[in-house]
Amino acid sequence: MKFKEMIKIELKKKEDFPETLLNLLPRGYQELNHIAILNLKPELREYASQIAKSMHEILPSLKAIWHKTGKIEGKYRQPQGLAHLWGDNSSEIILTENHVKYKFDFTKIMFAKGNVTERRILPTRIKEGEVIIDMFAGIGYFSLGMARTKKPIKIYSIEWNPEAYSYLCENIKLNKVDSIIKPLFGDCKEKIMELKENKIRADRIIMGLLPAPVDAIPSALSVIKDNGVIVYEGIEGKESTELFDEFSEIANREGFLTSIFERRVVKIYKPHLYHVVIEILVKKK
Ligand SMILES: C[S@@+](CC[C@H](N)C(=O)[O-])C[C@H]1O[C@@H](n2cnc3c(N)ncnc32)[C@H](O)[C@@H]1O
Repeated sequence: MKFKEMIKIELKKKEDFPETLLNLLPRGYQELNHIAILNLKPELREYASQIAKSMHEILPSLKAIWHKTGKIEGKYRQPQGLAHLWGDNSSEIILTENHVKYKFDFTKIMFAKGNVTERRILPTRIKEGEVIIDMFAGIGYFSLGMARTKKPIKIYSIEWNPEAYSYLCENIKLNKVDSIIKPLFGDCKEKIMELKENKIRADRIIMGLLPAPVDAIPSALSVIKDNGVIVYEGIEGKESTELFDEFSEIANREGFLTSIFERRVVKIYKPHLYHVVIEILVKKK
């Protein structure tokens, strides 16, 4: 039986839960290591504890239930408004996915489960001996999986949120990839300038940030090798070419030709708009 049906049946039994709200219950929840994160409509918020109580009765494997009222926002792309409802109240977890361990505090750091395919695909692209720059590394979402292939010589992983950076450093140790990943703390444009001064050039650059980090394209191009790959993320229509066209216009101005290696729709962002990833081949003119 589906979650919504199960929770409806359970709450119907409770006299103090208004029947008019039953249809507003969520269809599902996010789960991280047996911790459920519920997103409730405003009308249901005053009943959050009651919903959590019924939920753990029907789902005994859950260790804790949290309630999320905000979105992922701000310059650090952090989750907003997480409140503990039931069970164990520690929010630091180690999540294992595709054999990679990610340690983080889910009240402070985002982890988009929907990006699992991206985290799996990117490492499969890497060739032996590559130098990679991950411009928006977070806790190592992409860097860790790429490093675990042992193919790159070096990955420079840049992150400017002190909390995410601290988890990035811990995750590098946890996954035993210290010899491959060099974490760099600060704004990616400044860190790229330093890499450039040190004559570092990359075969592949990951630009994993939403909305699309257009203003960082010239920085990325300033350190890409004559034939390189830039993995560019953004939000656009399902069949749109807007992101690629905008990227290409800037790249052309900077003296590069561009072509698409692959474009993927990762997930729906909001009606008619999608989170898209484009692997762009760039070649010096
Ligand atoms: C949350 S990650 C996105 C990860 C990945 N796209 C995903 O969804 O799994 C983006 C990270 O970029 C960082 N960031 C944003 N702007 C930055 C900048 N100018 N320099 C360095 N890091 C930056 C944020 O702090 C955040 O941790």
